[in-house]
Amino acid sequence: MGNVIVIGAGAMGSGIAQTIAQAGYSVCLNDQSKSALEKGLDNIRKGLELQEKKGNITGQEKTEILDRITLLTDIKDMGEPDLIIESIIENMDVKKRFWQEISPLISPSTYLASNTSSLSITEQASCTPNPEKFIGLHFFNPVPKMELVEIISGALTSDETFQWAKEFVSSLGKTGVVVQESPGFVFNRLIIPMINDAIKLYEDGIASAADIDATLKLGASHPIGPLALADFIGLDVVLDIMEYLAKELGEPKYSPTPLLREMVKDGLLGRKTGKGFYNY
Ligand code: NAI
Repeated sequence: MGNVIVIGAGAMGSGIAQTIAQAGYSVCLNDQSKSALEKGLDNIRKGLELQEKKGNITGQEKTEILDRITLLTDIKDMGEPDLIIESIIENMDVKKRFWQEISPLISPSTYLASNTSSLSITEQASCTPNPEKFIGLHFFNPVPKMELVEIISGALTSDETFQWAKEFVSSLGKTGVVVQESPGFVFNRLIIPMINDAIKLYEDGIASAADIDATLKLGASHPIGPLALADFIGLDVVLDIMEYLAKELGEPKYSPTPLLREMVKDGLLGRKTGKGFYNY
């Protein structure tokens, strides 16, 4: 495969671009914000420097990986890439508008992927000229480190695209799991309601944040407790996904707990605002 374009240079897009370049592909990173694009490249550089310091890659390899990454400031200059991966904000209207806008530029041979963590693949694909080329590739944060990718076919995704996606994911050194299209897929359908339950336990005074987290770390070998994970993901994102699950699945167990709403309203979003269940 020749060239990959990653749209959105945030935490996920920059991690995806780095991983793809580390696997030997050329990758163009695009963002509507010039400063986000520069910040994304800076994150990649820092990530690679850390890997070099740890002895995982040589200085020469770091330079070669960086040489495979270019910044694309105007999407109109994207040419005919083999793959476009969208990793912009988790909002269906924004994602649909993005696909509609770039549709006239998309070549029939280009594979199209969304890194959405919960939204419909079929609905996004319907905004493109080639829905059979569209697939969900849900990477995990931080992308260079996390081994899992959920691979989600939409209603019109072709078998050829699905087979290609499985091979592409393995070529990145990741493990793909196959998921039928469904709200939240597998990971967020399990993890986000669990975080919501953990918040409820904390809200009801059943245990402290540290003890709730220690329970799952020491009792179930989770690498991180649910409340620390909520702070890492961002409480606003947790709330958005809970609301989406509640709307799509219509079951009371997906109702966001009041404390989650309150913390989001108060700007206590976790690591990104310096305060959530813990202080940073
Ligand atoms: P982010 O907010 O860090 O980055 C999004 C970037 O997209 C921003 O830099 C923004 O300027 C850019 N952007 C927005 N609209 C654009 C457009 N039309 N064209 C070009 N650039 C545009 O978001 P993050 O956390 O990287 O998430 C991106 C996607 O990845 C979302 O769909 C999210 O659900 C998914 N995801 C996030 C994970 C996480 O832990 N943060 C984990 C797995 C998936």
